[in-house]
Amino acid sequence: MPRIGIELNNVCNLDCTHCFRSIYRGGAENNHDLFLPLEVLDKILIEAKPLGYHHVAITGGEPPMHPRFGECLDLIAGHGFTYHFLTNARNFNKTLKAIMPPNRRARLGGISFSLDGATEATHDKIRGKGSYREVVTAIAMCQAVGIETSIITTINRVNRHEIDQFALLGAHLRVKRHIFGHQNPTEHNMGEDLIIPLSEWRAVERDVARVMTEFRHEISMAVGFYTDYYLPRCAPLSLDDLNIDYRGRLTLCCQLSNYRDAEGDGEDVVGDLKKIGLSEALGNLMGLVRTVHRERLVMAADPEEREKLHYPCLVCVERFQKTGEEPMLVQLTRA
Ligand SMILES: C[S@@+](CC[C@H](N)C(=O)[O-])C[C@H]1O[C@@H](n2cnc3c(N)ncnc32)[C@H](O)[C@@H]1O
Ligand code: SF4
Ligand code: SF4
Repeated sequence: MPRIGIELNNVCNLDCTHCFRSIYRGGAENNHDLFLPLEVLDKILIEAKPLGYHHVAITGGEPPMHPRFGECLDLIAGHGFTYHFLTNARNFNKTLKAIMPPNRRARLGGISFSLDGATEATHDKIRGKGSYREVVTAIAMCQAVGIETSIITTINRVNRHEIDQFALLGAHLRVKRHIFGHQNPTEHNMGEDLIIPLSEWRAVERDVARVMTEFRHEISMAVGFYTDYYLPRCAPLSLDDLNIDYRGRLTLCCQLSNYRDAEGDGEDVVGDLKKIGLSEALGNLMGLVRTVHRERLVMAADPEEREKLHYPCLVCVERFQKTGEEPMLVQLTRA
């Protein structure tokens, strides 16, 4: 299903060690430019609908921290979109209250929770004290009121040995789906020694594959895992997932957006929707997608570069110069 991904804000109440966003972690009161304005959201929804987008995937920052979170949901529902959002579960009582009015509840497809440890010690090591209990409690609260839940887990050195336990926990919490993803490198998470060496990524994927068929809930790997295909078929490059940042700009992909180490805007920012229409911005995006595919064709023809294409998202991180850290892909070309 084609989706518009919207980063509703750029503030957060956690400071996760692995996080790839350049997030503002202070008070939000005097920082209105950290929140997507409602009139921009309204414009985007009006322009996106006739292009066949009917679902909004809300991310951030921590989405419920938008001071007008409820009104954003009213707009999304009012334009006939369904939606889901991703959260760290902090202050979930307040979030639950915000989604309960019938118009907002009716269009809610589900809530995705980030869970980065199958045990309290592991999760809290990455996300901060008290976070694990908040996530587990929030998922149980959703079960009680009939809201569909998913778990998103980013795999790193600290939680890598817990894949079986994660799957058991997901079953126990009766989530609908559990998506595992590799962790993209930043100077910070590499400095904290969280990144698993690339040579071990396939073993991680095999561990996830082993649990995929053993449980009633859906277990899968997010895009970014090993692929034999040189041309990526990911949702952003197929225009199935659009990403709009908290400043109202169309960008190539939520995985590259507002990246922690990046200096200024990258080439992945293709159009300011406060100034131009979505169609025009999509035209720019199509140009970029074409360029990306052409570049990968060139890489595929080069025996020294070709191996990198097995990890499409790392190629993007390198291509769009998102981190100053020596690219992990160097590990591959050295092997
Ligand atoms: C940026 S957060 C925004 C939503 C919300 N604050 C949360 O954490 O669920 C979106 C997702 O990106 C994941 N993420 C953060 N840093 C990452 C990285 N370096 N590589 C891959 N995923 C990452 C988070 O764990 C989370 O599941
Ligand atoms: S991963 Fe989510 S909760 Fe953690 S710091 Fe980043 S935006 Fe905040
Ligand atoms: S980072 Fe690149 S390859 Fe990965 S999902 Fe985004 S656009 Fe696709």
